Amino acid sequence: MKYSELGSSGVDASRVALGVMRLDGKGRDEAQNIVRTALDGGVNFFDTADCYSDGESSRRLGQALQDLKVDRQSIFVQTKFGIYKGDNGAITRYNFSKDHLIASLDRELENLQTDYVDFVLLHRPDTLVEFDELAEAFNELQNSGRVRHFGVSNMNPMQVEMLQSAVGQKLEVNQLQFGLGHTGMVQQEIHVNMADAASVDHDGGLISYSRLKGMTIQAWSPFQFGFFEGVFIDNPKFPALNEAMQRVADKYGVTKNAIAVAWILRHPARMQVLLGSMTPSRLKEMMAGADVEISAQEWYDLYVAAGNDLP
Ligand SMILES: NC(=O)c1ccc[n+]([C@@H]2O[C@H](COP(=O)([O-])OP(=O)(O)OC[C@H]3O[C@@H](n4cnc5c(N)ncnc54)[C@H](OP(=O)(O)O)[C@@H]3O)[C@@H](O)[C@H]2O)c1
Repeated sequence: MKYSELGSSGVDASRVALGVMRLDGKGRDEAQNIVRTALDGGVNFFDTADCYSDGESSRRLGQALQDLKVDRQSIFVQTKFGIYKGDNGAITRYNFSKDHLIASLDRELENLQTDYVDFVLLHRPDTLVEFDELAEAFNELQNSGRVRHFGVSNMNPMQVEMLQSAVGQKLEVNQLQFGLGHTGMVQQEIHVNMADAASVDHDGGLISYSRLKGMTIQAWSPFQFGFFEGVFIDNPKFPALNEAMQRVADKYGVTKNAIAVAWILRHPARMQVLLGSMTPSRLKEMMAGADVEISAQEWYDLYVAAGNDLP
């Protein structure tokens, strides 16, 4: 496993982290096995959110960490807040009000059985955000020791700039969908000043901006294409990509699961990959990707095999 600083936080995090969005359906023993597999592979960073099955994923992570007697100081735990769900579990609004953020974080601390989180991220933009409320919430959470570092998720550069101007804490990370099945952030930065679909600027130059600001991108759903449409590995919809991945995998003596991770990590933006697999054998294959450094040519070959062109 390799490690890298998140933003300028001083936190040396494993380059792949375990995301526990899908841990909610797992029993106590299964959850322990998944978390133990990640720890044994060198993962020291865990990502969750208050809205994952109404806190159930965080509860299972917290229980697994207790069951495994993991020293709290030896790992980093991150949660996300700001998405508000109604009684039927559907998102009804985004909520960055002070009361909501603080109540939500306190519930997460209870769920996770800990008295602090290392990072908390604003999960999705709340266009009704009031700057003073946000700043007060962050100050209270930081000054009381309940949160050590802050960041955002699914935000474009202008939104990051706006929120950064409102709070005193450095926003260290931005969590964004990225992987061989979701390459838009790169496409747009290659098709500059063109008139084709790939040139459409959906996000305001996120990769360049993040590098410029020293902000770490955490790649979510690295194995999915579309918005949770499915997994691209071994999917007949992606023959060229799977062939190209297999070629590179064979060269490095690993699996396609490892190469999908290695592709993200090869980008010099120094992203962190959030693995969502709840199958220990697959997790091991994916974690192996952190130790593989593919060449720049292989990176571009895989990018093209994923259905992109180079103008
Ligand atoms: N900020 C956000 O808005 C946001 C949104 C979504 C996710 N996230 C974060 O990102 C983390 C990862 O997201 P994700 O779970 O969607 O990531 P993922 O790793 O892309 O997908 C995991 C899912 O795909 C399946 N899978 C992966 N590789 C496979 C393969 N080679 N063959 C067959 N099935 C495969 C897994 O099945 P198995 O479990 O059976 O292996 C699992 O159901 C989440 O836990 C969360 O922390 C953040």
